[in-house]
Amino acid sequence: MIVAGLSPGSKEFAESLASASGFGLIHAEGKVFPDGEVYVRVEGDVEHTVIVVQTMSRPQDTSIIQAMLLADALRGLRARRIILVSPYTAYARQDKRFLPGEPISIAVILRSLYTAGYNEYYTIEIHKEEALSAFPGSAVSIYPYYYMASKAGIGGDHLILAPDIGALRRAERLARSLGAQYDYLVKRRDRVTGEITVEPKHLNVKGRKVVIVDDIISTGGTVSKAARLLLDQGAESVEVLVAHAVLAGNALEKLKGSGVRRVVAGNTLPRVDDPLVEYVDLAPLVSDSLSI
Ligand code: R5P
Repeated sequence: MIVAGLSPGSKEFAESLASASGFGLIHAEGKVFPDGEVYVRVEGDVEHTVIVVQTMSRPQDTSIIQAMLLADALRGLRARRIILVSPYTAYARQDKRFLPGEPISIAVILRSLYTAGYNEYYTIEIHKEEALSAFPGSAVSIYPYYYMASKAGIGGDHLILAPDIGALRRAERLARSLGAQYDYLVKRRDRVTGEITVEPKHLNVKGRKVVIVDDIISTGGTVSKAARLLLDQGAESVEVLVAHAVLAGNALEKLKGSGVRRVVAGNTLPRVDDPLVEYVDLAPLVSDSLSI
């Protein structure tokens, strides 16, 4: 059975996962106490195996605490195999100590979820798959781009572009499955100010339809800088295929200003109602990946 969590975007994903998998669905209840503490409750009998759907949408810290509390609530109701499906994993980009004195945030989150009671963890595109080794149970990151590209009509005639070297593996994998060409940019981010610079590089993009593939759009800085460079070098169009459309602050305006024609995003986070962004429902893909 599936328990729909409480964070924004979880209910929609859980309902779609229930219809794709055929598992029963119940909804967790929750509230926030006047002092800001969160409360969750799962009412009724639960089965031996329970899948909790709780994405780590904003406010991320609340979503994580709710996920932990839900695991303990389900243990109390005698669930024995508790699986967390968190379509978006927050804190995934802090996967190392970039500067002395920093934590490895993603490792702390994954260890804590295990300690709270989850036996298994499923997410979509966790930035760096290696980070999952911090979860002591079984943990899976689902690669969504081929599925998304086929739903969005992206094929072999497109040029697939990684906006930085870290994204090269995922772009290469997509390009190979589509029979498309691929290339990459070199991006640097100032670890203190967050300022992004893209190294000038000549790309063979004249007259090409380019698709930038990335795991996440947060401030939109990475994608908009890449899009501008591609259009300046004569690309016919620039589209973006992204698992997680976080779209913090004025990211949408930045993307529009840079000339991006379309953003194709997974429904791992609440939908933004804007004609630039088109969502692909990834629940059927997760349903096929679950080993239940
Ligand atoms: C970086 O390593 C990530 O893969 C994304 O490219 C990056 O986090 C996107 O962030 P922003 O939209 O703020 O540039």
